Amino acid sequence: MEFSVKSAHPEKQRSACLVIGVFENRRLSNTAERLDSISEGYISSILRKGDLEGKLGQTLLLHNPPNILADRLLLVGCGRERELGDNQYREIIRKLATTLTQTGATDAVCCLTEINIKGRDIHWKVRQAVEVMLDTLYTFEEFKSKKELNRRPLRRILFSVPTRRDLNTGERAIAAGQAIAKGVSLAKNLGNLPPNICTPSYLANEAENLSKKFNSINVAILDEKDIAALKMGALLAVAQGSKNPPRLITLEYQGRKDTQKPVVLVGKGITFDTGGNSLKMPVNMVGMKFDMCGAATVLAVLQAAAELELPINLVGVVSSAENMPGSNATRPEDIITTMSGLTVEILNTDAEGRLVLCDALTYCERFNPDVVIDIATLTNACIAALGKHASGLMSNHNPLANDLLTAGLISGDRCWQLPLWEEYFDVLNSNFADMANVAHPPTDAGAIIAGGFLSRFTKKYHWAHLDVAGSSFRSAGKDRGATGRPVPLLVQYLLDRCQTA
Ligand code: BES
Ligand code: MN
Ligand code: ZN
Repeated sequence: MEFSVKSAHPEKQRSACLVIGVFENRRLSNTAERLDSISEGYISSILRKGDLEGKLGQTLLLHNPPNILADRLLLVGCGRERELGDNQYREIIRKLATTLTQTGATDAVCCLTEINIKGRDIHWKVRQAVEVMLDTLYTFEEFKSKKELNRRPLRRILFSVPTRRDLNTGERAIAAGQAIAKGVSLAKNLGNLPPNICTPSYLANEAENLSKKFNSINVAILDEKDIAALKMGALLAVAQGSKNPPRLITLEYQGRKDTQKPVVLVGKGITFDTGGNSLKMPVNMVGMKFDMCGAATVLAVLQAAAELELPINLVGVVSSAENMPGSNATRPEDIITTMSGLTVEILNTDAEGRLVLCDALTYCERFNPDVVIDIATLTNACIAALGKHASGLMSNHNPLANDLLTAGLISGDRCWQLPLWEEYFDVLNSNFADMANVAHPPTDAGAIIAGGFLSRFTKKYHWAHLDVAGSSFRSAGKDRGATGRPVPLLVQYLLDRCQTA
């Protein structure tokens, strides 16, 4: 899809469709008002007949509006003007995307970017519009033998901005929005792939593709032998039940000439999680191809950073294995030695995410990180606590946590902080090893305890943990699939860092 910006006179722009907003009680937006007088009352006369009240998400498609150089005029209900916030705006844009694709219009001029949203500027509105539109129009049909083909797909969108001075801002917003949307789409694609295709070596190959595409990205792939040489006993333990061997993937993005300390992103890349010998029930196993959404996020954020040429240094580490109950799989009560030297008694082989992550978190030390952020579909308990709307955030450094919370608010990809208090973590004591991988018997606060397990491996740097079990995919229903989160959150975090650095 092509996006551009233009200021003034949308009525003089030739297009297949002109899109304007109408508030509740048929109140016209400023642009709608102007177009109404240009069209000699055409819009208001139709509204008077009661076809559109202006409720949020309502639409009305009109043809051949008088004195306007567009074939169609699409009115979109924006709800109450005073209640128009981030969520309402996104809903309006989503509605616009689905409605436009159902018409024959292949291009459109969109004036919704001129509507006032509390506390949001033109950059935010244009960028969000690009992101939400591409997110809404995403499809994944690789494995359908009959593709649903749209003969007249939407190709070009022109956003109207208030003044000429906004053109530059608008263009930068489009570039950022497109890079983020592309990242989201990559994360969704990887997440949605079946687990018989998306294996650890498949993810490694994807990382290599990124390094071929971008000169600024270098990739190193460690195989089972290399992983053993590093003494990553936890990652090896998870992998040993599967025929698909593990990979530790490192991507380095150099956005600066200097040696500024990097941001390090660590992704959980379990390409399928059966639970291992602590086998999951069949209903709970469906959805476990998405257990690599953290890994997909890391690849996607690196792609977006390279695409935007962000002036930062960034490292991505993907710890990837398949959790299978093969004959060589670990048993409950096995004891393993992690790369850090700490020994772990595995009391539940289904708590494998923290195992593949702990060795990656130790490995990170070598990058002399400014901050480390891990992204993982780690616990059911996080879904119980926060549902699907927020990612769980835990951190050993409050300024970092606050930066992520803020980035979540701006990007609309929000997280919510949970505590990492020591008193939660006594339950991880083991009679035989330095620690256990789960509480036995199981206890409450599972998301926090998982965070606590990881915190024992992150003492040497500032660290945040994002539990994206609920936010990164939908496991049932018609929208079953990856969401591409938390790519927008992390790209926003990086953009904010570039502003202040
Ligand atoms: N990948 C799962 C967590 C998960 C479950 C993510 C559902 C998304 C949806 C993780 O490896 C796991 O199995 N966690 C266990 C931990 C427990 C054994 C302490 C869980 O949450 O039940
Ligand atoms: Mn598991
Ligand atoms: Zn898992």
